[in-house]
Amino acid sequence: MESAGDAAEAASEPTESTGATRRALLKAAGASSMGGVLSALVAEGALAEEVEPGSADGRGGVFDASDGRPPATVFPESVASGDPTPSGVLLWTRIAADAYRTDEPLGVEVATDGTFEDVTYRGVVPAAAVDPADDYTVKADLDGGLESDRFYFYRFFYGGTTSRVGRCRTLPEPDASPDELRVAAVTCQEFSNGYYGAFAHVAQEDVDYIVHLGDAIYEYAAPDSEYEGRDVVLPSGKDVAHGLADFRYLHERYRSDEFYQRALERHTMIATWDDHEIVNNRWWEYDRDPERPASTSHPENGDREFMQRLFAEGIKAYWEFMPVRVNISAELTDYDPETSPAPQGDDLHESFRLYRSFAFGDLADLAMTDERLYRTDPPGEGQYESNAAPYRDPDMSDPPDAPDRTMLGDRQRGWFLDFLADSTATWTVWGNEVLTTALKTTNDGEESTYLNYDQWDGYQAERARIMEGAKDTENFVTLTGDLHSYVVAYLLDDYESPDGQEPAPLQGSPVGVEFMTPAITSANLSEIADPSGAGGFPAGTDETTVNQLAQSQNPHIEFFNSSQWGYSIVEFTREDATYVAYDVDKAEDSPCASRETLVAYRTPAGSDELVEVTGEENVDGRTNQQTGEAADVVDVQALFANRESDAAANTPGSFDFNEDARLDVVDVQKLFVEVDTS
Ligand SMILES: [Fe+2]
Repeated sequence: MESAGDAAEAASEPTESTGATRRALLKAAGASSMGGVLSALVAEGALAEEVEPGSADGRGGVFDASDGRPPATVFPESVASGDPTPSGVLLWTRIAADAYRTDEPLGVEVATDGTFEDVTYRGVVPAAAVDPADDYTVKADLDGGLESDRFYFYRFFYGGTTSRVGRCRTLPEPDASPDELRVAAVTCQEFSNGYYGAFAHVAQEDVDYIVHLGDAIYEYAAPDSEYEGRDVVLPSGKDVAHGLADFRYLHERYRSDEFYQRALERHTMIATWDDHEIVNNRWWEYDRDPERPASTSHPENGDREFMQRLFAEGIKAYWEFMPVRVNISAELTDYDPETSPAPQGDDLHESFRLYRSFAFGDLADLAMTDERLYRTDPPGEGQYESNAAPYRDPDMSDPPDAPDRTMLGDRQRGWFLDFLADSTATWTVWGNEVLTTALKTTNDGEESTYLNYDQWDGYQAERARIMEGAKDTENFVTLTGDLHSYVVAYLLDDYESPDGQEPAPLQGSPVGVEFMTPAITSANLSEIADPSGAGGFPAGTDETTVNQLAQSQNPHIEFFNSSQWGYSIVEFTREDATYVAYDVDKAEDSPCASRETLVAYRTPAGSDELVEVTGEENVDGRTNQQTGEAADVVDVQALFANRESDAAANTPGSFDFNEDARLDVVDVQKLFVEVDTS
């Protein structure tokens, strides 16, 4: 990996497009306007030296696949792709420690077809870039190497073994006018709390990308999971992650899941994080006290240096394992728990920039924000056991509407407000970790109570500034994770009644709409509702009343359910945006875990209205067909011809159209029928 000095030199070069090596530099918005430290940061992908497709044999056998070991023995977490650009995508894999050899380079091959007859790119990642210091993780950044707006297939070669085949997708050109964008929204996947059948379904969805809204790991140990095979035992032996070894173990454990692997093999992911990638309900007092990263959930919370190290190590593991093209400094990429000093607050804030945006032609702009690294502490400064507290409790210090409370920090907020002001796409979309709209447990003017000040209800002044910024943004949609619930709601600029006393009816004109995607597996409110009144709900609240209460006390919430698990598909067209949310049985350890459509809502462009469309055939007909990407008879023929090839066998998740965990002629028939009738 490069040093910071190398990175700074690279960043100051105008454009790097030698064709031989490519390194994605941070695009203009960030690097040029921020100056200082950030200008020295690059998106740190491994260099892949491109070689002519026909000259593979001249590369010392890098593209040799003769050894025939099962892919998982060399690539235990398989492959993944992320952060598309109009000319590329970031490809990810990890080499097993016992397959690693110091002088072994890694080959990357990209083709337009899943059988690799039409190879369009071959690159070699130098041996030195496969680094034990990064836990053998590798990112090959193909930005600049591929064509826009299309799917590709890719695989890695290492030591004579080929990885499973992944499929990735580039972005349309900024001036393109695509007709539609379909994403699978996912979040909150506590490994020990259920099986990932939802991911097996996501793998089969006909979507362009996955949008991950955070909590891709949980920091907790779970030595006695009630779900067989889902125990989590941290290397430290502690109850929660205490450092780099624990974080790496968690990422490896979660990514060992076959259904999760299938989803990431099949779709390019755009991810942000939430709290659990480091520690529950974390914050960092960006401006008030830059030395203090914190979480009252961690037993070492009082030890400032320990927490600084914990955050640095959580960030490093996240950067190693997630296919994200982020700005990160050498201080973090080279961080070694044994020898590195604990990064100080400002150093770390300036060293990792996860927030970024994506343009899907002129159809949609998507901003992914970071709502953890720069946020101030919860309201009440530790006065309250839970996140919930009475609104405007006269004894509350630092109340939720205090003007200097922030979730984004000054710099990111400025960037985000600029994004909102500048977006001219049909849809302006916010990939947002925690619930934006208000969620009261009692709606009673100044006596109102809120469920959870860890979400935007605890940061009301900043929320109001964002809503003000979004007022002139046409068709503003927020995609949200975190609460382990299905929520469909209006975004308002004011959640209080005019006199502040009466239960508030829907106020004024909506600024936009919010779609929350449910947890894949993590405990939802019904699972944790406590009739004793703990957890923020009034005493007596039980599983059956949670959903009713949320809707009855919040007139801006159209739909609320915290009793199921699953994922959602969000489709943007010129006419409308449609959210279809699925309920998948997390107790079934099967790629065919039962799945039902729980609810569907649609927002017509230009309306800011929410229309329930659950059950309308044209809403989810396409997602119910598990067509995969193959779409015409040529694909059927190709599948028939190659159904026994290694490439096909290596990606059963991609071609197993009848979902029987085998690739055979029945899958060909199934695909043929679907093509024929579509
Ligand atoms: Fe979560």
